[in-house]
Amino acid sequence: HGTSQINDKGQLEIGGCNTVDLAARFGTPLYVMDEALIRQRCREYINAFRESGLNFQVAYASKAFCVMAMCRIAEEEGMSLDVVSEGELYTALQAGFPAERIHFHGNNKTPAEIEMAIDANIGCFVVDNFIELHMLNAIAAEKKRKVNILLRITPGVEAHTHEYISTGQTDSKFGFDLGNGSAYRAVEEAVAQPNLELLGIHSHIGSQIFEVDGFKLAVEKMIGFATEVRSGLNVTFRVVNLGGGFGIRYTEEDTPLPLRDYVKAITDGIVTYFSSHNYPLPEIWIEPGRSIVGDAGTTLYTVGTVKEIPGVRKYVAVDGGMTDNPRPALYDSKYEAMLANRGKDANAETVSIAGKCCESGDMLIWDLELPKVQNGDILAVSCTGAYNYAMASNYNRIRRPAVVFVKDGQADLVVKRESLDDLTDLDVIPERLQKKAA
Ligand code: LLP
Repeated sequence: HGTSQINDKGQLEIGGCNTVDLAARFGTPLYVMDEALIRQRCREYINAFRESGLNFQVAYASKAFCVMAMCRIAEEEGMSLDVVSEGELYTALQAGFPAERIHFHGNNKTPAEIEMAIDANIGCFVVDNFIELHMLNAIAAEKKRKVNILLRITPGVEAHTHEYISTGQTDSKFGFDLGNGSAYRAVEEAVAQPNLELLGIHSHIGSQIFEVDGFKLAVEKMIGFATEVRSGLNVTFRVVNLGGGFGIRYTEEDTPLPLRDYVKAITDGIVTYFSSHNYPLPEIWIEPGRSIVGDAGTTLYTVGTVKEIPGVRKYVAVDGGMTDNPRPALYDSKYEAMLANRGKDANAETVSIAGKCCESGDMLIWDLELPKVQNGDILAVSCTGAYNYAMASNYNRIRRPAVVFVKDGQADLVVKRESLDDLTDLDVIPERLQKKAA
């Protein structure tokens, strides 16, 4: 998919770059991001909204993969940006991302984060709870500012892949509940705060979703709430944000929809429900993360040791694992992989791919068909662009890998590989523990 192909020598190329050469040049493990595919995904969303004729913002949920070069691409493609911490905000600002297109999320924003975001003039806060609502107003008042907000609503719709469940009240740490009246009270209190400008409401129903029904139901709940608020409080929402969660294909078992189908379901739903309630059509915002960067990423590893337990299993260990991709260990996520240096070799066997961390749970893929694997082969695991680098750790003091963007035969480093000194730089040895000169 994307710009990936297997060349005549049976080697994997991405963005016109031979991955075997990339592994040699930058070392492994290495995250390789197909820049053209990232840009294509951004455009799919934006074009789908343009077709609808509605006003919109597509905010890239930077939590999926937040580095400065990615913020530049998001800006160039006309995206907005969703951040959830001072670190993501700082990264965006350092990259020069236009502050007015930044939306700040999170269920426990600190006073320092709120101050930083107000000082930077960000476009909007997505307010999660009453404490934040009042703190935000107070800090804005101190700074003699008025800040735009959306209220995060818990709509009572939870969606994961094919299933969604509709509950009267959701047991969630996020947002104002629709069912118990706290969302209504939040609107009442928000409009009463002189330093807050209430633009509208937000909902996020889940992640890696393959169907549109959950989104349609969320739209229906949002219009129900909007209508109630309009008649009861005379408040009209100008913005409705439906969050992210659009699924991608990690393996053949996954059946995501084309991105424009998700957008169409949402925009059609908005037009239908809001028109039928004689409600002025709001601006629609969404926040995709995974579906922008997920399938653009490939991780390259070098095969190290191989352990065969006759009649049981063959373990093939690579030079990374749960430190660069914690998703199999955390969520039992499935991945596909191939040998980047011998993609066409037909001499297949079934192996399991192990990481190098000191625990048995550090397995990347169970029962994978590969050509007969040898020490030194380059393994390419696909669909690692979202929530891999973002969730990478230094467990076992393993260094975080480098990230390169590839496009039209050019490979550019966008994150350097961590050095050994990076690992010890923040350590401090107290005076009393220092080695005394003999
Ligand atoms: N908006 C909000 C409020 C969110 O909480 C999230 C994801 C998104 C947007 C973006 O969702 P996406 O389009 O990427 O599905 N670490 C997990 C995923 C956690 C998602 C958290 N929230 C994983 O690796 O699967």
